[in-house]
Amino acid sequence: MRISRESTDYRVYRILSENPLSGEKLAKKLGISRTAVWKAVQKLKECGVYVESNASGYTIAGEEELNPYEVARLAFESGFKEVHFYDVTDSTNSRAKEYGKPDALFFANRQTAGRGRHGRKWLSEEGGLYFSVTLSPPLDYSELPKLTLIAGLSVAEAIPQSEIKWPNDVLIKGRKVCGILSELHGEVERPLVIVGVGINVKNPHPENGISLSELYDVSRREVFEQVIRNFSKNYRMLLDGRWCELRRRIERRCSSVGKAVRVTTPSGVAEGIAEAISEDGSLVVSGKKIYAGDCIHLR
Ligand code: BTN
Repeated sequence: MRISRESTDYRVYRILSENPLSGEKLAKKLGISRTAVWKAVQKLKECGVYVESNASGYTIAGEEELNPYEVARLAFESGFKEVHFYDVTDSTNSRAKEYGKPDALFFANRQTAGRGRHGRKWLSEEGGLYFSVTLSPPLDYSELPKLTLIAGLSVAEAIPQSEIKWPNDVLIKGRKVCGILSELHGEVERPLVIVGVGINVKNPHPENGISLSELYDVSRREVFEQVIRNFSKNYRMLLDGRWCELRRRIERRCSSVGKAVRVTTPSGVAEGIAEAISEDGSLVVSGKKIYAGDCIHLR
């Protein structure tokens, strides 16, 4: 479902998420009839929002739940203009590609054909976070890999004890908790970048990885809120020309740096010590810049 910022149901949710209010006051505030308020409340309930009504009016309960309107609220507050929410879809990256325009966020509770890097599958059972954003940044083509790095940074800084494995995995104790799939579409001069993020929050079977719920009690809402706010801040910093600062933070969080690594790239395998994240976002392995690839930590 697409949630529009201007829709009555979203505006009612927005107000009630801050304060309980009576139907009468809501109607006055929004300049609509009480019937329209009632209809909007029914729509919210149908979409899984817990709206309670008592003598003092309507109240939203269960704030810890990540309902479609809460996803939209957090996305709009982070600067996105469109939000599409699915209980189930094949892949949010595919939905985003189909949409084809920037500044949108696609979110799913479950994916039936979640995609990972290098054509791999991404198991997307209920309990995880699966979302994709569409961007059209005014950046040079060569700078686009930085978007994947800042997405990883945004996740890593939202998850205590986590580390970045260059270029785009987030690990806890060496086990994968998040994967990122960035894809480019459209014109080379101004491509559409899709950044898809999958995070194991409460996944019952995190394939070869770890779920946050194995370590501590955390809600999907908390994780999503933190990640999307971090991403929006970091993205703005990147556009403001503050890559140096971001790079330092990525390097600090990146456990690949200082390790012996093997990186499988489209043109072969590079093995050596990962020395740094360079100015252009590549990984420096024994003096040689690597721009893309699958990285394994050897020791
Ligand atoms: C990887 O580690 O190989 C990347 C996994 C990326 C998974 C996310 S989940 C949301 C988005 N939709 C997809 O189909 N894939 C990405």
